[in-house]
Amino acid sequence: MTTEFNKRRQRLLKQMGPNSMAILPTATEKIRNRDVHYPFRPDSDFYYLTGFNEPEAVMVLLREKSKSRFILFCRKRDKTLEIWNGHRYGPEGAIEQFGADEAYEIEDLHSKLSEWMGGIDRIFYTLGQDHEFDQVLTQQAESLRNQSRSGVNEPSQFISLSHITHQMRLIKSSAEIKSMQHAANIASEAHIQAMQHCKPGMNEYEIDAELTHCFMKQGSRSPAYQSIVAGGKNACILHYTENNAVLNDGDLLLIDAGAEYANYASDITRTFPVNGRFSEEQRALYDLVLDAQLAAIKKVQPGVGYNVHHDTAVRVLTKGLIKLGLLKGDYKQLIKDNAYKDFYMHRTGHWLGMDVHDVGPYKQDQQWLKLRPGMVLTVEPGLYISPNCKKVAKRWRGIGIRIEDDVVVTRTGNKVLSAAAPKHADNIEAIMQAA
Ligand code: GLY
Ligand code: MN
Ligand code: MN
Repeated sequence: MTTEFNKRRQRLLKQMGPNSMAILPTATEKIRNRDVHYPFRPDSDFYYLTGFNEPEAVMVLLREKSKSRFILFCRKRDKTLEIWNGHRYGPEGAIEQFGADEAYEIEDLHSKLSEWMGGIDRIFYTLGQDHEFDQVLTQQAESLRNQSRSGVNEPSQFISLSHITHQMRLIKSSAEIKSMQHAANIASEAHIQAMQHCKPGMNEYEIDAELTHCFMKQGSRSPAYQSIVAGGKNACILHYTENNAVLNDGDLLLIDAGAEYANYASDITRTFPVNGRFSEEQRALYDLVLDAQLAAIKKVQPGVGYNVHHDTAVRVLTKGLIKLGLLKGDYKQLIKDNAYKDFYMHRTGHWLGMDVHDVGPYKQDQQWLKLRPGMVLTVEPGLYISPNCKKVAKRWRGIGIRIEDDVVVTRTGNKVLSAAAPKHADNIEAIMQAA
């Protein structure tokens, strides 16, 4: 794996040009309450370039005239603290296990930065992500400026580092896709387990527990985001995470849950009947969302614009809503008026990777990006008929449905990473009834 990280650094260094320096701190540890921390998760860009997962670490890449250096700053080894809190690699480990050319204790960061920054033309650094660290760099720049009379030059350019790294992260390598496939497999299994366990009268949090149990048993240390377990009308709240209501006989259950594996996210939504059988209205809307999703997935192909699968989903949904009587009027006019937005208020997906809403641009020169092999995106149309929607007959109200898969663009089309999670209504009913 160190070669994979090294390859990424080499690609970045190439784009940085001569006499430049990249500076990238990892995430900071966050207090949950008093002296309890949230579980630490490294910054995605930092991990992408280093593979180093300890807090209090900073990567520096120095591109000088004839050579480049990969430098890691990290916590020093400490016998007592390691007894209390666990192993630390220390600068020695950073060199031996992570391939750093040089490594220093984090306390040496300021003095080393001042030493190296004078004489560097361009600094690659992302402002606005870590305000404390922004201050460190501002002070360094100021201090160099004040030394100008002794012949020290301050860097002439500060350039956004994430502008490059996020473009890089948009195209996944085969090693990354392997991790993402694993994350999707873990989550698919959890969705199946949820279908098998679900019974009327259970609480949403019992299903949430089942999902987390299934994730962790398979080696995922955390959900990639807070799981949404939304019974009945709760599914109409797009980011519902309270997960503490009773699941009623006759309602649907929408689960949006993805496992994180090796710092890669999966993001899967399945919607199924709490009692194992869709009602007529539920089935009609469910099949419509599925038709929209299948049609959208077909448009995930190299060379096709990023907007095409969304527009396809919108067309299928609009047509279907007219047929079912939830939208009334002329199809073309309804499309023009975005009439679907009463029932479908989000876009059909997003990039997926180390971050669930992954980085990378969607447009370039005002144009939607064309899909390329190695891009990974979610395809997640839905319909949400608010319980208070007076525009439609009562029998449709309070139904919320989303179907979400993780799709990688291949050279010849696409591959659905989350295909193991059943989504045809008949299959779902069969699984639930056999449980
Ligand atoms: N789980 C968040 C989303 O689907 O975008
Ligand atoms: Mn999503
Ligand atoms: Mn989702």
